Amino acid sequence: MLPLKEATSEKHKIAERKAFNVQMFRGLLSKEEYALYLRQQLQVFQTLESKGLPHISLNRVEKVLADLDELKAEGHVSDVVLSSTSDYVDYLDSLSYEQALPHVYLNYMAIMFGGQMIRKSVPSSGRMYDFDNTQEAIQSIRNVQQDEWADEVNKGFDFNISIFDELEAERLSRQVL
Ligand code: HEM
Repeated sequence: MLPLKEATSEKHKIAERKAFNVQMFRGLLSKEEYALYLRQQLQVFQTLESKGLPHISLNRVEKVLADLDELKAEGHVSDVVLSSTSDYVDYLDSLSYEQALPHVYLNYMAIMFGGQMIRKSVPSSGRMYDFDNTQEAIQSIRNVQQDEWADEVNKGFDFNISIFDELEAERLSRQVL
């Protein structure tokens, strides 16, 4: 069996190269666009965190809310939950704590690895990327991750890819207006 990272690397490449992500990485998102992205992240984190996490330092909800408050104070409110996000949240809601762990791996490693490269490009303080105890938080996920999770992680990547597609469609439609 392939190691998890290898078995999911194709989907990682697709997600990483999605237009919205590339714009974010290049520092080209407006505050409004970033607020919309954060709102989607918030829904996913709230759903996962309501089940519990392997380490307390992983918790993201308060940090994302603080980032959203900062943007709100500057007039960039985003309450829109995209339908692709609702689909993912509905799916996550149907999972037990154990069954949701592959999605914890996916969504929290994303912020701890790629996120550290992205944080300097986003139009906010980027509290979402701050971890009190990064090594311990990473290790808590490494301690539970299994190569058998590949299909489930790839499924999670597909949900994330759909969210990036809808974020990009939304971004383009707002530019036209
Ligand atoms: C611009 C976007 C992104 C960049 C630049 C990026 C970059 C990276 C890098 C450099 C690593 C560490 C690889 C290594 O250990 O050699 C990583 C790991 C990871 N990324 Fe991303 N990433 C991005 C987007 C994403 C997204 C959107 C997701 C999922 C939603 C994701 C999920 C993961 C996961 C789960 C790992 C951990 C792999 C492992 O070591 O087991 N990444 N990423």
